Amino acid sequence: MKVSSHVVAGMLGPWQEGPGPAHQRLSDRLRLLVLDGRLPLGSVLPSERDLATALSTSRTTVGTAYRTLVEHGYLATRARARAAVRLPHDMPPERRAGTDPAIIDLSFAAPAAPGEVLHAAFAAALEQLPRHFERHGYDRNGTAELREAVAHWYERRGLPTAPDHILITNGAQHALALLSRTLLSPRDHVLIDHPTYPHAISTFTQVRARLLPVAVSASGWDTAQLHAAGRSAKLAYLIPDFHNPTGLCMPTSVRRSLGLACPTVIDETMTDLALDGASPEPFAIHMPTAISIGSVSKSIWGGLRIGWIRATPSLLERVQQTRYATDLGTPLVEQLATAVLLNEGRTRRPGTLEQLRTQRDALRQALTEHLPGLHAPRPAGGLTLWATFPRPISSRLAAIAPDYGVNIAAGPRFGIGGAFERNIRLPYVLPPDRLTQAIRGLAQAEQALTRGVTGAHSPAPVA
Ligand SMILES: Cc1ncc(COP(=O)(O)O)c(C=O)c1O
Repeated sequence: MKVSSHVVAGMLGPWQEGPGPAHQRLSDRLRLLVLDGRLPLGSVLPSERDLATALSTSRTTVGTAYRTLVEHGYLATRARARAAVRLPHDMPPERRAGTDPAIIDLSFAAPAAPGEVLHAAFAAALEQLPRHFERHGYDRNGTAELREAVAHWYERRGLPTAPDHILITNGAQHALALLSRTLLSPRDHVLIDHPTYPHAISTFTQVRARLLPVAVSASGWDTAQLHAAGRSAKLAYLIPDFHNPTGLCMPTSVRRSLGLACPTVIDETMTDLALDGASPEPFAIHMPTAISIGSVSKSIWGGLRIGWIRATPSLLERVQQTRYATDLGTPLVEQLATAVLLNEGRTRRPGTLEQLRTQRDALRQALTEHLPGLHAPRPAGGLTLWATFPRPISSRLAAIAPDYGVNIAAGPRFGIGGAFERNIRLPYVLPPDRLTQAIRGLAQAEQALTRGVTGAHSPAPVA
């Protein structure tokens, strides 16, 4: 697949900013795009001349950056052919996958499993399983037990819901992919929070929708801008509950005043992770037409792969028709176990919430000690801090951080057009000592960037 110079320029964003020579900034940014998967393996980069023109820089800068990437194994070149993206052969597989045990992984914002709680739920699910043996096991919308449990979960939180308004999916990401394939056509506009959850960006771009970003700033959502963008959008996708990545929670007054002109998908994946108070009310209380998606991935465990859509039966019927092309349902034992967990109210476990508070405090304390220049407001819930550097160094820092024992997600992953080069997302899902160790490593990486010694410290590129 050829990637045009304009697409690469868009992904790079303001790469000119930051310390070090231009060719090094450019090769670091391109390397991160490869490691993030934003430039897929095998994709063919623009010629040096085309990219230099699109970036308003010299051909020498682009040529030197490309040569660095070739030397380190990130680009393959053949005579008279354009450079193609690859990964270094000598990169150990665990480093490629980002699972090297020596590197603390702060790129994932997902908690470890509550082992005993899960074990008990699966034991109960196995006891119930034989009831289902006489049937074929394919449930179009999910098993009745779980649809009822999800409906009750909404009801307990003040939103009357019938089980036939629920469709069970394999996680919230699957819910979003199904909705976008059902509701969107190429070139449709989709309103998104900016920044937003990165895989939502991939989902919408995969169906070739165009993104309409509306800023979520430190002060939150701008209702007037949302309404204006909603008028030209085919769909809106918002994360009002402990927004990923900022951790912000949309105030009730904004929820009440929001009536977008387009169908609106509300992602409530984080809703049960309120750390300083009660969970927010379900969004559909204020906007009855909202299409809500949810999941137990953050409140219980991502390995369950259980999520849902709450919508009208007629929309769910359309989603179901789309679904047949790719999958025929969600595994039954996981559904039964999740029904047990929801009915027992296990999505808000006091011990886990207390642990998250402790970890959030430990992370902020480590930042104050080791990276005092970083501004990191305290979120009222969710799993992440959205921190801001005084300088645009996020991608370069993410590129060298594994050399200092830590993996981070650079700010531009959460936006489009290379935005958020001053930001990083820092999850607090690890024990305090690991978080402190990770921030120490990050501080060393930042100092190395400031001194411009990254090349000396990182002779070999890493994942
Ligand atoms: C806002 C948001 N939505 C959806 C998902 C995907 O959730 P699931 O694991 O249920 O597919 C995530 C995971 O990080 C998320 O942060």
